[in-house]
Amino acid sequence: MVIIQGGTLVCPDGLRRGDVALEADKVVRIASSIEPAEGDEVYDARGCWVFPGFIDAHTHMQCWTGIDWTADSFETGTRAAACGGTTTIVDYATADRGVTLPDALDEWHKRADGTCTANYAFHMALSEWNERNRADLAIMRERGVCSFKSYFAYDHLRLDDAETLELLESLKPLGGTLCVHCENGTLVNALQKRVYESGIHGPEGHPLSRPDVCEAEAVSRLLYLAHLAGDARVNVVHLSTKLGLEAIRAAKARGQKNIFVETCPQYLLLDDTCFLRDGQDGLEGLEFVMSPPPRKPADRVALREALVNGEIDTIATDHCSFNIHGQKDRGRDDFRKVPNGGAGVEHRPALIATTFADELGPTDLCRLMSENPAKVFGMWPAKGRLAEGADADICVWDPSVSWTISAATQHQNVDHTPYEGFKAKGRARLTFVNGVLAARDGEPTGAQPGRYVSR
Ligand code: URP
Ligand code: ZN
Ligand code: ZN
Repeated sequence: MVIIQGGTLVCPDGLRRGDVALEADKVVRIASSIEPAEGDEVYDARGCWVFPGFIDAHTHMQCWTGIDWTADSFETGTRAAACGGTTTIVDYATADRGVTLPDALDEWHKRADGTCTANYAFHMALSEWNERNRADLAIMRERGVCSFKSYFAYDHLRLDDAETLELLESLKPLGGTLCVHCENGTLVNALQKRVYESGIHGPEGHPLSRPDVCEAEAVSRLLYLAHLAGDARVNVVHLSTKLGLEAIRAAKARGQKNIFVETCPQYLLLDDTCFLRDGQDGLEGLEFVMSPPPRKPADRVALREALVNGEIDTIATDHCSFNIHGQKDRGRDDFRKVPNGGAGVEHRPALIATTFADELGPTDLCRLMSENPAKVFGMWPAKGRLAEGADADICVWDPSVSWTISAATQHQNVDHTPYEGFKAKGRARLTFVNGVLAARDGEPTGAQPGRYVSR
């Protein structure tokens, strides 16, 4: 058995001091004190918070994005995740046009199976709507996929409104959730052209071409479509704007149910001044080219308030990493050619725990990064819950450690981090995945206990 002693346990019914015993891949006992037997592995958690392992429900590992491959494979990405305390990712398997959903799922398994340090589940992203895909949704459900994705932006991926409506209607009887990238792609295309032709070619053109109304319009449209589909279950991914938040509030005020909201550290910590940073090599700003872009300070304030007052359900990362050198720098003279995406799977718990140290306690961190992702995405009660019988995915978090985030010491497979120099307070001391110690003090142990999570 593994025995974790003397921590503050973050349980569904509140905090308590005690010990946790793991056997094989389950939590088998929680008690105020557990006497170890000979041969037990004992870990000291005094002064630490013991969380059900964190879940990052929005990643893009080892993925072709239309411009380039993401830099993190499942192997490097889940290793980095575990170093930061994340024990499960839900990655976006994507069926490109002409590829069936079962074939896409097979391909994602081929990429991930046998290589992962953290557990992994898959959402299925659809890039076209046809009878074959409609029929295959049920097959996806049988194969453990209960959440899907569609896009309102990106020409090679997006569905139109009627297709989105049919997808929502088709998912309803299956109990599926549709995650949607909410940006008005037609408007973004036109504004990109307009901004570029106005002479703005650098990364500062990126936020100008994707203003907040592009998000708010698409959020609003999605919520009306979901309503039309009978209050279908939707998850607004990477919410980044005050206007988008207001669209969500309006739908909820109309009485609409089944709306879930995700945001990411980049929209809680960064703002659009990052695109104007000065530096030496002329590449500054490229690393922040992600969609949606970091927004105005007022958006960040609104999202922070919404997070603290419980209007946001989950914090994920949208981890979609590209190197600056050799990938993002191909768009240094044309912001439209920069691969979109940022890195974050390793640092989310530390960024959020540090930034919200005065507002969010361990129970809130657990709700936003473990419990709610497990509930929204069909993994509760096995995951996201520190309780006897739950999966032995555990993060022992030491809130007293001060450290600095840096590309030089990270495990994400990229040459930068958007949070370089961030002074973090708190770090994962021990990360257990399926009962196996996968990372210690932010470093991997080399174990690869991650498994597919069928939901
Ligand atoms: O820029 C981003 N976020 N790239 C990943 C794909 C997406 O939009 O989620
Ligand atoms: Zn997106
Ligand atoms: Zn994404």
